[in-house]
Amino acid sequence: MEFSGHILIVPFPLQGHINSMLNLAHLLDLSNFHVTFLLTADTHARLLAHSDVDSGRFSPRFRLHTFPAGIHGDRTGSQEELAEMFYSLVKIGEPFLRELIARTGDSGPPFTCLISDLLEISLNISRDLGLPVYYFRTIGASALWAYFSVPDLIQANELPIKENGMDSLVTKVKGMEGFLRARDLPSLCRADEMTGPVFKLVCTQPQLVHQLHAIILNTFEGLEGPILSHIRAKYPKVYTIGPLHASLKARLQLKQASSNSLLQEDRSCIAWLDSQEPKSVIYVSFGSISVITRQQLMEFWYGLVNSGKKFLWVMRPDLVVAKDGETPIPLELEEGTKANGYMVGWAPQEEVLEHPAVGGFLTHCGWNSTLESIVAGVPMICWPFFADQQTNSRFVGEVWKVGLDMKDVCDRSSVENMIRELMDKRKGELLKRVEDMGKLAKEAITEGGSSYCNLDCLIQDIIKLNVSVRKTI
Ligand code: UDX
Repeated sequence: MEFSGHILIVPFPLQGHINSMLNLAHLLDLSNFHVTFLLTADTHARLLAHSDVDSGRFSPRFRLHTFPAGIHGDRTGSQEELAEMFYSLVKIGEPFLRELIARTGDSGPPFTCLISDLLEISLNISRDLGLPVYYFRTIGASALWAYFSVPDLIQANELPIKENGMDSLVTKVKGMEGFLRARDLPSLCRADEMTGPVFKLVCTQPQLVHQLHAIILNTFEGLEGPILSHIRAKYPKVYTIGPLHASLKARLQLKQASSNSLLQEDRSCIAWLDSQEPKSVIYVSFGSISVITRQQLMEFWYGLVNSGKKFLWVMRPDLVVAKDGETPIPLELEEGTKANGYMVGWAPQEEVLEHPAVGGFLTHCGWNSTLESIVAGVPMICWPFFADQQTNSRFVGEVWKVGLDMKDVCDRSSVENMIRELMDKRKGELLKRVEDMGKLAKEAITEGGSSYCNLDCLIQDIIKLNVSVRKTI
């Protein structure tokens, strides 16, 4: 078989990013590419322990590789920790990556391109080593466009956000003029995050991205077409190839999703769901890195219990930040949940969302979770924690109308009311919208659909790069 190319994939080493990148890696593996997937030592070990990457689902052309030790932790919810991880990736990861790229031709096929969301490192590699880079931002197009618009917002004096200005509409994110409020901008536009180093990088990002070969997005035209046209006016080469989890499942004709988990999935929740009425359960999960206080935990819990609905709650071991001397999860909560709900440390989420008993999703609105919910036809209540989630949740509630946005509040009566709206009062209307959107997602990844064709175009693009690399050698 002819050699199509060797692709190096380097995700920001967190669950959400790894999920989308691994799904893309698998699709590229199915298209006969050699793929090297680079992780930190810790994420590598956890992936091997808890996912099915090692179960023979990849071909021998796929190789997992690790950075040297020393890259700062892999579970992080604060700006400071994110920045530390980022800097250790630059300090330790980048020299290693340069060496890996330089050496790769010695023992195997040379790299054809790099796919990564590590912007600064990617730019250096592209400039100094001439390796073409695809910038795969694992967030949605709408949130990405809001990030790209930050310099315009600053110039128009819409940032920093004025005192009491959280509900004012912003005018400098093209295509979102009528509905995007200051509170819906990515969280790093909020005063306490604007001074951090990540903010500086975001301000220069729009110019820098021009130096990269193309952008890849895990989204589909039917969901974000209008915003994508604004992005393409500045960056013509954008491949929208999502939802990747659904695309992979369809191409492999799988009934059950494969697992990219970094934590042990507790499958007992599926048996619990099996014993519940159709569309009666609200699934609660705040993703892989969000944290909540003990007080917020109790408000959510009372809201859930007072709603009278059954619930399945992912209580990640590091979800609750307790003060000294406090137990993170009070005994009363564990005991009180037994009547109405079920708790697990980590769930097989795609399977849970597809389960007939699940009728709603209380989510932090991470991009993977949002897409998974849409594909499964499950309406959402969004309680965004940080980053792109603030923008995603506005789109869910106001633009796509596939759920409700509960941004910035989580007192027990708001939680209870939202659950009643979602599961009773507005159930029919929200279900219809999300099921329709789910159908569009499935059309996009089916032969002839936009994401299906765009993935083929991406593959052809990489093959062309491979041919030109080989000519230069
Ligand atoms: C964060 C961002 O918010 C997200 O938008 C960005 O793209 C990546 O970083 P995270 O908190 O990990 O992501 O949320 P999300 O993007 O939703 O990803 C979480 C993933 O973990 C999902 O694919 C979900 O299926 C999976 N998951 C979550 C499980 O498999 N089991 C669980 O119990 C919870």
